[in-house]
Parts: sequence; C-alpha cells; structure tokens
Amino acid sequence: MRSLANRLALLFLLITLGAMVVVYVAVVPNLESSLVNDRSQRLQASAERMSRTVREAIDANMPVGVLDQRVRQAADQARARVTLLGIRRRSGRAELFVKSDSNASADIQDLDFPAATQAIESGRRASATESGADGRVVEAALPLFFTDRASARRVLGSVLVYTAPLEDVRANVSLVRNRIIIAGLLALLAAVAAGYIVARSLGRRVGRLEHVARRVAAGDFSARFPVDGDDELGRLASALVDMQRQLAELDTARRRFIATASHELRTPIFSLGGFLELLEDEDLDDETRERFMAQLRDQTERLGKLTTDLLDLSRIDAGAIALQADACDLRTLARGVADEFLPAITEHRSQLEFEPPSDPVPASCDEERTRQIVRIMIDNALTHTEPGTPIAIAIGGSAGRAWIAVTDAGPGVPRTELSRIFEPFYTSDGRRGSGLGLAIARELAERMNGTLSAQSAPGRTTFTLQLPAAETERQLPGAVHGAGRDGR
Ligand SMILES: Nc1ncnc2c1ncn2[C@@H]1O[C@H](COP(=O)(O)OP(=O)(O)OP(=O)(O)O)[C@@H](O)[C@H]1O
Ligand SMILES: [Mg+2]
Repeated sequence: MRSLANRLALLFLLITLGAMVVVYVAVVPNLESSLVNDRSQRLQASAERMSRTVREAIDANMPVGVLDQRVRQAADQARARVTLLGIRRRSGRAELFVKSDSNASADIQDLDFPAATQAIESGRRASATESGADGRVVEAALPLFFTDRASARRVLGSVLVYTAPLEDVRANVSLVRNRIIIAGLLALLAAVAAGYIVARSLGRRVGRLEHVARRVAAGDFSARFPVDGDDELGRLASALVDMQRQLAELDTARRRFIATASHELRTPIFSLGGFLELLEDEDLDDETRERFMAQLRDQTERLGKLTTDLLDLSRIDAGAIALQADACDLRTLARGVADEFLPAITEHRSQLEFEPPSDPVPASCDEERTRQIVRIMIDNALTHTEPGTPIAIAIGGSAGRAWIAVTDAGPGVPRTELSRIFEPFYTSDGRRGSGLGLAIARELAERMNGTLSAQSAPGRTTFTLQLPAAETERQLPGAVHGAGRDGR
C-alpha cells in the first residue's frame, strides 16, 4: 500500500464501488414498487374506460350471455382479466360471488379480490395486489351502482375487477438488478485497471525525478531531470532543472572561491619564506637587508588584510555579522573617513574635494560598517588611479534615500567588466589588490538595505552607496540624487 499505483487503484475502486452502491440503493428497491404503481394506475385508467358497456348491460338487466360477452370484450380491450363480482349481504356483512369472469365461468378459488373489498368499503375505485395460482397480480376494482326503484337511492350492486399479472414486473426488476451488478463489476474492473495504469505512469515519472535528484544530491551535476510534459510533474521537473543549474553555479563559484583564496594566501606565504631564506645570508649588506625587511612587512600586511577580508566575507555570507540600524549623519561619517586617508592622499599626491552640505544627511545604517564601505571606495580611488588623480566625495539625500559617492578622474573600469568587479577576487587591472574590497562592500550595503553601484568612463569613475534615509532626522532640503553629481 506504500506505492502510489496501489493507492490510486484502491481509491478508484472505492469511488466506483461507492457510486455503484448509491445507484443500486437508489434504483433497485424503488423500482419494483414504482413499476407496480404504474401498472396499477394504468389498469385503473383502463377499467374506467372499458367498463361502460358492462355497466349498460347490468343497468339494462341484459341476459347473462350478453353480460359474459361484454365482460370478455372489456378484458380484450384492457388486456387484463376482468371479473364481475356480485355482492350478497348476509347478517350485515357483504359477501362477494363471481357473476362473470373473462377467463373462467366457474368459481374462482385462488383470489380474494382485496381491491374489491376496498372499493365496497370506500364506494370508490381501489387497487391492490395479491398472489394467486398464477403468481402475483395487481387488481383495480370499480364499484358499480344502480338506482333502487323502490327507494330511488343509488345502491352498490356489484364490483368490476381488472386483474393483471405482475410476473413480468418481477422479471424486469431482476433484469435491471443483474444489469446494474454486471455493469458495476465491469466499471470496477475498468476503474482499478485505469487507476493502476495512471498511477504507474505517474509513479514512473516521479521515480525518474527521484533517481536524478539522488544523483544530484550526491554531487553529480551532469544528471539531467527529464522534462516530459507541461503538467504539474513537467513543471516540477523544469523547476528542478533550474535549481540544479543554480546549484551547479554555486558549486563552481564555491570551488573557484576556495581555489582563488588558497592561491591568494599561498603567494604571500611563499614570498615570505623566500625573503626569510635570503635574510639568513650573513653576507647581506644593510641596505639590501632593509629592503628585504620592507618586503617582509609588506607581505605580512597583505596577508593580514587578506585573511581579515576573507573572514569578513565569509561571516557576512553566513549572516554571522550583526548590523545595527542606527541613524547616523553621513556628513560626519565621511568627514571622519576622509581624515583617516589624509596621509595616503598626500602620499598619492592627490587632491581630495569634499564639500559637505550644511545640513546633516541622516541615514539608517551601521556606522562602523558604513565607514568600512567608504574606506573601500576611497582606497580604490587611490589604488586604481595614477598618482595625482583628483578624488571627490559627495553626499546627498532625497526620496527616502541617503547617498554617498566617491568619484575619481582615473582611467576607470572597462564597461564589460563593470558588473564583475563586485565578484570576490575579481580584479580588472594589474594592480596588487586581491579583489575582495567591493565584494565585501556590496554585501554589507545590501545587508543594510542599501545598494552599491558603479558608473565608469575614462576620466570619471563613481561608486555610489545608497542607504535608507533615517526617519529620526530631517532630510536634506533640495538635495540631488545621483552618483557623481556633486563629485567635482
Ligand atoms: N576607482 C576605481 N577605478 C578603476 N578601477 C577600479 C576602481 N575601483 C575598483 N576598480 C576595479 O575593480 C576591481 C575590484 O576592486 P576591489 O576593491 O574589489 O578589489 P581590489 O581593490 O583589487 O582589492 P582589495 O581587495 O585589496 O580591495 C579592482 O581590481 C579594479 O580593477
Ligand atoms: Mg579595493
């Protein structure tokens, strides 16, 4: 019962069985009584229609021979047995006797004519069923009145009874019952077979999906989910194909990340080892030794930054960094970071242009992490441009957003690479960066419900950090939204 095919077959079987029982219960028990009813009504209607001549014969007191003839005529017309019963009153009780009968001239022993008794009691036409020597019959009785000359009253003189056999009704009912049972059994068989076939085909398709899913789960991304139709299972298969593609991409990205990260880490470590070996040489003059030491410091610093960045990136990815949503003034924040960079800017012989607006620009962000993003943007403007390249910082806010843009007049990023520079380890120039800065910055910006975007053309490259404006403070009046607009 754990297989879909068996369960569906059983379900089909139960539904068909239920439908069959409902049909049987609704049709068969009522069928016999409806047919008998119908037969009795038709018999009563015929009795009314065909009895006129018999009535006239009785009223005119015609001879018995004529009466018999008319009774037989009525029987022929009504296609029923017709019996004329006389009423004899004995000690207050009405007794019936056969006056004439379309079948037999003798007394009829097997029938009690309950319909006639009812008709006598009610004075109206009546019907009933009873069992006689020839099986069950239905009877329609018609009371016949005559006018008593002495008292001038209408007196019930006789009853005309029409009798029709019910054997064919029985036969019809059992025929219908048998047909229902046979048809039901065939329907049951068909339902079970259909249920089983449908379920087996569904089961096979699900089985194929399951098989491929297990291979993919085991890391085999070459397995293909079969998209065999556009029904629910087909759509599930194409959703699985999409999922598989994304998983494969993620897997490739993860492998590439690990490979690049270990490569990036290995390079400075090898370099350190090399310099240490060189430093062991006792004949080294002071100047060379100092140069090697500087290299050692440089490599150690690079290694330190790289490991911190890698750790940062993995923690942001894993959601392990808790970010505050404080209201902080971007003006003060940018001023602070710009001050940190003064020595580097001087060394780079660049000019930093920063004209903060007179009003605060409140943004909802984590202050320390926003500083980190601005540091990455300014660091790039210094690292990826020639010495002496002017740099500008602009700040503004509008429409519920606050932004800070760093623009430089350097060579910029080729248009085709603009979207890729945010990928980890991606570098578009030959400078010594490890390509993690912008990846970290963008992740951080997004975690603060902000964005980090780049626009670049030779001579003007702008990175813009947009953050949700803080509601606690007044927004800047007339501020212009757009990267680099203020960045002269
Ligand atoms: N202002 C800029 N001008 C030109 N190119 C830039 C600028 N900022 C970034 N880039 C390009 O984008 C790439 C990625 O920058 P990102 O800050 O992520 O890495 P990086 O600076 O190379 O290394 P690090 O991890 O040390 O920051 C850089 O290698 C550089 O090619
Ligand atoms: Mg950088």
